[in-house]
Amino acid sequence: MNVFKNKADLTNHINGLKFEQKSLGFVPTMGALHQGHASLVNKGLEDNDVVVVSVFVNPTQFDNEDDLIKYPRTLDEDVQLLSEISEDRIIVYAPTVKDIYGKTVASTSFSFDGLEHEMEGRFRDGHFDGVGTIVKRLFEIVKPDNAYFGEKDFQQLMIIKTLVEKHKMPINIVGCKIHRAEDGLAMSSRNTRLEPKYRKVAPFIYKTLKSAKKKFGTESANKVTEWVIKQFAEHNLLKLEYFIIADAKTLKTVKRKSNQKSYRAFIAVYAGDIRLIDNIALN
Ligand code: PAF
Repeated sequence: MNVFKNKADLTNHINGLKFEQKSLGFVPTMGALHQGHASLVNKGLEDNDVVVVSVFVNPTQFDNEDDLIKYPRTLDEDVQLLSEISEDRIIVYAPTVKDIYGKTVASTSFSFDGLEHEMEGRFRDGHFDGVGTIVKRLFEIVKPDNAYFGEKDFQQLMIIKTLVEKHKMPINIVGCKIHRAEDGLAMSSRNTRLEPKYRKVAPFIYKTLKSAKKKFGTESANKVTEWVIKQFAEHNLLKLEYFIIADAKTLKTVKRKSNQKSYRAFIAVYAGDIRLIDNIALN
């Protein structure tokens, strides 16, 4: 498997592939790869000749220094997992911070039509400027035909779609279903950091989302939200940061339901000091 640590070598290789008219899929990741990532890579391999997987813990999207330092970094295992999927049709790009940012590690400021101010944007200062900066930079380096993002980060997926539209980048953004553990917990690199007692109770998040979906069939968004808040207030280990029922297009919190619109529920929960997010389509 080809593992590139700098963009000059990667670009050289990609230019060769483009010359041979190979189609290119791209799965940007921050590493600590799991079956959720594997499903994105497999989808990429179905649609493209070659898939580039970037492994880069992007400092500018973290608003919490401790979270950045403790983020799992497991490149050898990541390469192993990918080589079990395909030895010759996957390329890994694992750059250094300097290769991406040069001397100035800073993000650009973006407008994503207000999507960036909701939920994760409200609770994680500067997060989507950091995501926009790195994803735009990676798109410019890799120049993929298709790029794959999980719906677990549904807001991020919508923001990336807006990014390519606004910057007229000829890249097809493919959203992929949330990959869950057997007990329902959404797959996340952060799950490996959960202490066993938190890992055991974490499926409560998805269980509550499913009940909220059922309730939303007959009750108002406010009533469902109050119910969810109560469930977590009574939980002795999980701490709710937010639960929001939002318009699936604008991501604005729902005031009054309309039959014409699609809604989605979004949740962020602390399991000890690990922050977990999840979401579910409601209709
Ligand atoms: O979803 C992620 O892992 C990251 O936000 C991404 C898209 C790789 C950008 O750093």
